[in-house]
Amino acid sequence: MLPYYTLLPLDRQAATPLVQQLSAALIGLCQQGLLPPGTKLPGTRTLAALLHVHRETVAAAFEELAAQGWLTLQPTRAAVVSRHLPEVSAQSLAPVSAGIAARAGFVFPPGPPAPALARPPLLTLDEGSPDGRLAPLAALTRNYRRASQHLAAPAARLGYGDPNGVLRLRQQLARYLRTTRGLVAGPEHIFTTRGSIMGLHLLAQLVVAPGEAVVVAARGYQAAETIFQQAGAQLHRVGLDAQGVVADEVAALCQRQRVRLLYLTPHHHFPTTVTLSAPRRMQLLALAEAHDFIILEDDYDFDYHYDGSPILPLASADRHGRVLYVGSLSKALAPAIRLGYVVAPPDVIAALGPLRRLVDRQGDVLLEEAVAELLAEGEFARHLKRARRHYHQRRDLACQVLRTELAAWLTFTVPAGGLAIWGQFHPAVQLPHLAAHCRQLGLGLSDGAKYALGGTADGSLRLGFASLTPAEWAESIGVLKKALQTLYPA
Ligand SMILES: Cc1ncc(COP(=O)(O)O)c(C=O)c1O
Repeated sequence: MLPYYTLLPLDRQAATPLVQQLSAALIGLCQQGLLPPGTKLPGTRTLAALLHVHRETVAAAFEELAAQGWLTLQPTRAAVVSRHLPEVSAQSLAPVSAGIAARAGFVFPPGPPAPALARPPLLTLDEGSPDGRLAPLAALTRNYRRASQHLAAPAARLGYGDPNGVLRLRQQLARYLRTTRGLVAGPEHIFTTRGSIMGLHLLAQLVVAPGEAVVVAARGYQAAETIFQQAGAQLHRVGLDAQGVVADEVAALCQRQRVRLLYLTPHHHFPTTVTLSAPRRMQLLALAEAHDFIILEDDYDFDYHYDGSPILPLASADRHGRVLYVGSLSKALAPAIRLGYVVAPPDVIAALGPLRRLVDRQGDVLLEEAVAELLAEGEFARHLKRARRHYHQRRDLACQVLRTELAAWLTFTVPAGGLAIWGQFHPAVQLPHLAAHCRQLGLGLSDGAKYALGGTADGSLRLGFASLTPAEWAESIGVLKKALQTLYPA
């Protein structure tokens, strides 16, 4: 008889039930050829005694294996390994479950560069995330429960749905976009996604062909740039100043060559936080018309502005179907709540569904229903009002602390909105060194590489103020100051 006690190790502390462990281990022995087809297994009583488990455990494992086709069971006879299994020559008595291989057994090209996802220290100065602790989770959870109950009803059946998104959410988003942004859209103009990154990806796949020119700012949102490059685009960079993207440079480029698409983050340019001025907006819209290019407007943080009314999106002024608009609830609610949307002419929206299906059959229907209700009941608007008040106070306080504590090393302009301050360190400061030192002191800080200007990091950094309470901000800046004093005494 095989040494079953050794070959079938069972872990009584593991979360996996013993029946499942035993079934998996027996399958492993069959796969290794140690239990070839036709082998008689010990009776349930004998095996249970050998393994020090209850007989019912062995019987249940045998039943499971018979149901899966690994064993044949007959009343009063020994269980037999199915004769229909392929013959495998016996392998060494290696551990039964070796787990997933450490590396792929084949060669494949590297994917796009992945951002480092180091385990964040307790304190982190991020690049402009909202404070997830303020998200209206109680209301969202309640709505999610209601949506589950409703959708579990026989008529709804939790089945496949519209890849464009839940109709009720698109209706509610249309109302919200009209009242907050002057964007006159109906549900037929809206496509919901899992965050704006998915919207950018689908639109790039749809409208950018390999070799076509995509214009981006001298420094911008790297994730979007990688998406365009993956679609085969040639990236062309244009300058940035205190009014945003320099429209004259776009005009000059259009004189030299055909441009397919211009990517903009006009409300608060990422990463510099500058708002694209009204004259530039008009100039860029006119250029798009004259030179037949698309404007892709990524409006990731429109909901946060503190000094007066915001300038409305370019999409709200577009009468010629040239602007594709992408929005997100990552800043309005929280990045972990994956919801974004595309606003575009209906023919573009219609083309997105079949593309989405290739990677994602549809969105999360329960989440979309729950957020639709959040919008409909007014909780979303109330939350934004509360969050805006908090972030306004946090911005003011954050700027004050930076002025009093870091003036020797950092300059910045107060952002009119958004969730981050764009700061410039003194040229002596080497951000990679500073970030490494801060990490040793328990503070996470970007090394600035992702904000490089034309590939060169220049000591500029986004300092997200919204996700930290005033006390947490003061503590973080205290650590940063300590690191600066050590490395670059003033
Ligand atoms: C410029 C820009 N666009 C979009 C997003 C949001 O992406 P998502 O909606 O996929 O979370 C971010 C997030 O930081 C961003 O900085």
